[in-house]
Amino acid sequence: MSQDLAIGGNGARVDDAQSASTEDWSNRVFGPRGWRQHIWHLARMFDNYAETDLSMFHRYGDIVRVRVPAHAIAFFRPRHIKHVLRSNVLNYPKSYHYDSLRPLLGDGIFVSEGDLWARQRRLLAPEFREKAVGRFVPSIVECADKLFREWDEARGPIDVTDSMMRLTLWVVGRAMFRSESFHEAEHIGHCLEVCLTHATRQMLSMGLYKSWLPTHGNRKAKRAERELDDTVMQIIHRARSANVSGQDVLSRMIQARDPESGAAMSDKQLLDETKSLILAGHETTSLALSWCFYLLARHPDIDDRLHEEASRVLGDRNPTAADLPSLPYTRMVFLETMRLYPPVPGVSRKVVQPDVIDGVRVEPGELVVIAPYVTHRHPEYWVDPERFDPERFAPERVNDLEPYSYLPFLLGRRACLGEHFAMVEGIVLLAMLARRYKLTLLSSQPCRTRPISTLRFERPLMMKVSRR
Ligand code: HEM
Repeated sequence: MSQDLAIGGNGARVDDAQSASTEDWSNRVFGPRGWRQHIWHLARMFDNYAETDLSMFHRYGDIVRVRVPAHAIAFFRPRHIKHVLRSNVLNYPKSYHYDSLRPLLGDGIFVSEGDLWARQRRLLAPEFREKAVGRFVPSIVECADKLFREWDEARGPIDVTDSMMRLTLWVVGRAMFRSESFHEAEHIGHCLEVCLTHATRQMLSMGLYKSWLPTHGNRKAKRAERELDDTVMQIIHRARSANVSGQDVLSRMIQARDPESGAAMSDKQLLDETKSLILAGHETTSLALSWCFYLLARHPDIDDRLHEEASRVLGDRNPTAADLPSLPYTRMVFLETMRLYPPVPGVSRKVVQPDVIDGVRVEPGELVVIAPYVTHRHPEYWVDPERFDPERFAPERVNDLEPYSYLPFLLGRRACLGEHFAMVEGIVLLAMLARRYKLTLLSSQPCRTRPISTLRFERPLMMKVSRR
């Protein structure tokens, strides 16, 4: 699958035709006006930025400009998104919103830029190629088996968001650094969560909540940061002294050499990259799976079809990488879930040089917002966009999708490094769980989203889990 067309697009023809248009959008840029509207918009943004973006799209259209709390312009149309993420990508690096992650991730791939980022991406990319990620299936299966044992013994309803979070942490622990201990991965996850909550609070305080203030929150975050670094460093030292050429990503990073200088990665680099991969790689997949179970419980016909495919293909055995092509419906369900609930609902970029996008000027200092949560519901590209319909991703229809209208993993050069890993993990876990269990919601009330940097649930997803 081409990185830039991702799902769908039948190659350069559609893509180039899209670039060739000379439409002028300069008189179609709208947004809140006057202080009352701006304050109203700001309050809604803090409450739920994904829903606010969507309502602004419905109210103002494809390009929305806001002035508060910062000068920002949101592009919801695929061709404009392509300009930012691909055609002129060097003009749109990650924005200052990512700075709050720097104390946690150092110079890891998620936040680095320029040559450093390019070197890291080159080094890590082979680990995550489509052909390479099948090797993780046995670890994924092993982790699912552990969850089965927990669920089989559980009495009463289960917090599915919590189960999926722990499950994907175990998987990332096994795949990234061959962790023998599930507890170790959970501990890392807990420390990361404390640090992230703290970083989000700092970001929202717009510079007022300084990290040197002697508050309980600051102390707690410092402690979590130290414990996180100590635990990951122990793992790195263990992997170095084991001196075996493992299949896990950390062992490969230890052996990797820069093609130009021949240098190996330092402990600090290994620490930053390991933390970045765990952070980027577990919550996103866990949320995609949780939203899947939520939607399946509300659409029993789709749930039945998924169960039928998983039972027919797998019977009583565990999946292997060879089964993946035989699970097309499972894949369709996973993709359609990420259309309605993209785990990363929006990202921001900054403008380096003045630029013109279809007649619309953007200036240095302005933020550019790309919101998959909105573009995935754009009625020009998605018929009946609020309907959960996995058929949209049927293999024979997928080529009809408009390039850049579907971007749960983003697109362009800063697209998700772990896309293939996440797809394998999602399909294997979904098939295993759907074959064995039926999950029922305790409440018929729809669940609202609570976007942080990822698209979380407003309240825990409590479900009754029954053996089929
Ligand atoms: C369903 C699961 C996943 C989704 C929806 C997802 C989505 C994304 C998105 C939207 C970005 C771009 C973020 C931005 O620019 O702010 C991203 C970046 C990234 N993701 Fe994922 N991701 C998933 C799973 C994973 C996994 C499993 C891994 C690795 C084990 C991973 C590793 C990364 C890394 C390293 C980056 C930064 C890439 C760079 O900047 O070069 N992701 N992901």
